[in-house]
Amino acid sequence: MERWRGRVALVTGGSMGIGEATAKKLAAHGMKVVVCARSFDKLEALSKENANIHPIRCDLRDKSDIYRMFQEIRDKFGGVDVCVNSAGLSLDSPIIDGDPDQWDHMWEVNVKALCLCTQESVKSMRARNVDDGHIININSVSGHRVGRQHFYSATKYAVTSLSEGLRWELSEINSRIRVTLKIREDGILRLNLVKWMMERWRGRVALVTGGSMGIGEATAKRLVSHGMKVVVCARSFEKLEALSKEYQNIHPIKCDLRDRDDITRMFKEIKETHGGIDVCVNNAGLALESPILDGDPDLWDEMWKVNVRALCLCTQESVKSMRERNVDDGHIININSLSGHRCGKQHFYSATKFAVTSLSEGLRWELNAVQSRIRVTSISPGLVHTNFAHTLMGKDAA
Ligand SMILES: NC(=O)c1ccc[n+]([C@@H]2O[C@H](COP(=O)([O-])OP(=O)(O)OC[C@H]3O[C@@H](n4cnc5c(N)ncnc54)[C@H](OP(=O)(O)O)[C@@H]3O)[C@@H](O)[C@H]2O)c1
Repeated sequence: MERWRGRVALVTGGSMGIGEATAKKLAAHGMKVVVCARSFDKLEALSKENANIHPIRCDLRDKSDIYRMFQEIRDKFGGVDVCVNSAGLSLDSPIIDGDPDQWDHMWEVNVKALCLCTQESVKSMRARNVDDGHIININSVSGHRVGRQHFYSATKYAVTSLSEGLRWELSEINSRIRVTLKIREDGILRLNLVKWMMERWRGRVALVTGGSMGIGEATAKRLVSHGMKVVVCARSFEKLEALSKEYQNIHPIKCDLRDRDDITRMFKEIKETHGGIDVCVNNAGLALESPILDGDPDLWDEMWKVNVRALCLCTQESVKSMRERNVDDGHIININSLSGHRCGKQHFYSATKFAVTSLSEGLRWELNAVQSRIRVTSISPGLVHTNFAHTLMGKDAA
């Protein structure tokens, strides 16, 4: 980064999230960083913290405001060497019944402003013979596969295309200005976007099976942090109870998922106490060492009952509960595994997870056939440090 010391970067949407973090990082490397956004107070607070950060108020939906900002940058700093197009937003506005003004809003910020800032930045670089300038577009995984917010996704697909197109344009004029497309997936968790998207779940009820430890416990805590009421179930009641003492919105129910009657009883209790289920996270699962040739069939049974049968039973009860209450935006989330897509060394466990892959897709078809909008998600983690390996190999070996 040494060659960038003292040079000028513009970070759009620098008042929070990824933009703010990027601005701080560039300033820490000695760049003069111009941050722009509508919330001037936030930008100003940032600039008070860091002398290398310079705030400019700019509404990126307004072309003349963008031109005015570049004029100000020219007057104060000479021009732009690096342009980070970070500003962007996602609004829930479907095609069938969405609000066209929201489409305009996303289009204007995510696409048109990105093009205008790029055009002005490249103009500024070329006017000063800056041939090592850099345009960095903060894209999203939604720019590569269609997300549920498909209008937002469309704008990010546009960014994918525009970034490649800009490379061609620059190459045609023999410019060495570089174009980088940053795909942020991890960043999304830190964005206010997630908070905003989770808002509709506040006060609603989630069940997390196997919530006494590991991935289930972490999921329960995360859902509670977004204001959900979370029912956690497992066999180890004392662990669930300890969790519920820490988090007021976590409600423990002892349930052995190998036992059908116990599952039925749990759903009855949830109905009586909380009204029903809006989100079901089928997380409980285990891998036991039990090969086909000399393995113990009881262990096959155990994996089958918890990883597959209980997942189906909890799904059946949850969907029943959602449909009874006309909950059409409910969500079934299956914690699958990489072993559900390629056979792992524990191939019986793998077989149960292949079953989860098939069942998740099959459930989508079933719900589609009854014209339900209840969603199904299958998540396939890689290795996660939890109690999981201890169950498989015993505490000492793990
Ligand atoms: N950790 C990984 O590397 C990894 C990788 C890919 C996928 N996964 C999947 O992620 C999910 C969670 O695993 P984890 O790593 O969090 O494992 P973990 O720490 O061992 O937790 C497993 C959970 O399942 C519960 N459970 C097991 N048998 C049960 C039963 N008969 N009745 C009720 N609850 C039962 C356990 O509670 P009690 O023992 O108290 O009943 C515990 O809460 C599993 O589906 C696993 O296949 C894990």
